[in-house]
Amino acid sequence: MSIPSPTDVQSGSHAESGKVIPLPRTRLSILGLEFPFMVAPMVGLSNVAFRELVRSYTPVGLNPLRFTEMLSTRRIPDEKLETTNELKTAPEEAFFVPQLLGNEEQYIAPSVKKLAQTNPWGFDINMGCPVSHTLKHNWGVRLMGDPGYAAQVVEWTKRSSDKPVSVKLRGSAGESEQLDYLLQFTAALESAGADWLTIHPRPRAQQHKGVANWDLVREVARVRKIPVVANGDIQTAHDALRMLTEFSADGAMIARAATARPWIMWQIAELTGNTVAPFGREHEKCPWTPEEEGREYINACLKLLVLMQQFFPKEEYVLEKFRFFAATGSRWYQFGHSFWKMCTKAKSCAELRDSIEDFGRRFENPSYQRVKFL
Ligand SMILES: Cc1cc2nc3c(=O)[nH]c(=O)nc-3n(C[C@H](O)[C@H](O)[C@H](O)COP(=O)(O)O)c2cc1C
Repeated sequence: MSIPSPTDVQSGSHAESGKVIPLPRTRLSILGLEFPFMVAPMVGLSNVAFRELVRSYTPVGLNPLRFTEMLSTRRIPDEKLETTNELKTAPEEAFFVPQLLGNEEQYIAPSVKKLAQTNPWGFDINMGCPVSHTLKHNWGVRLMGDPGYAAQVVEWTKRSSDKPVSVKLRGSAGESEQLDYLLQFTAALESAGADWLTIHPRPRAQQHKGVANWDLVREVARVRKIPVVANGDIQTAHDALRMLTEFSADGAMIARAATARPWIMWQIAELTGNTVAPFGREHEKCPWTPEEEGREYINACLKLLVLMQQFFPKEEYVLEKFRFFAATGSRWYQFGHSFWKMCTKAKSCAELRDSIEDFGRRFENPSYQRVKFL
């Protein structure tokens, strides 16, 4: 089991050392992805406003993939692209990947066709979700129990689209990790035509807690011919790069940490010697130190609130999604708990905005580099 480096408070090590780590070229470049970092699918979080927030912090010219949350293929055919909040995309949004939840061709094919109207970069299939509703229907991680059937799901998706099709799966289908089975399962996906895979190397029973076994990613990447991306417990720009340099991954997918530091793509870019800034931030350096991150977090929250109001008409929906964002990301900040509690009290978007601004004036709120997922 790989234990990631320090779990306690650190200062921004890049800011101090200024050391550049060359960005390795990975097999994702075959699919046109030269910057092999991405933001994960997360129910309740990976909405269009969050994806736009991450984009706003990404240096011009870089295109990290940004996933939607998992979308039920049973529902998509009857939903409206313009009005269903989970399906909304930004005008001219690119490099986003809808994640499909399902296992029936009769629903997958029309879902893919419908979503193709939004011009996604590719499609992803969820084979990792462990929640009971998903298991009941043999979706999500249940598909990992049947390599032949899982392969069929890939084939159906490939048949419905000429875009890259990926699968996001867990380190194991059951209680504990078994490399032999994972190799057999990923071989079936590869033979079925999957263009690349993401592995979240925590077994099903572990859900999202504890550390991820990144060694498992290395073992699969060594054997598979298609690109293999690492996910799970990637919290810093250094973690993301370690996936490539130490664990032979072809890419790194960041999940919860992106809600704490939506500028993580900017940090990765700086770390690898890219000096281009995000649009509108041309003469600025990326936030690195705990204090810089604490200040930027307030700005990011205010920016997200505006974006959410642009995309979602109902104030109650905005408040609910914003609170979840704050609940997830604020744990990386010293006064995160107070921040989140304050967010739960606001009764309107205007009140929430005023409270965030006031919080920003009163607290420095420095960040932690890494947190423990208990
Ligand atoms: C709130 C939440 C919602 C999630 N929703 C999805 C999802 O829709 N699809 C999926 O494949 N994984 C989902 N995941 C799992 C994440 O994509 C990721 O695999 C997991 O959080 C591990 O990464 P992390 O340790 O960097 O957070 C979700 C995780 C969280 C915390």
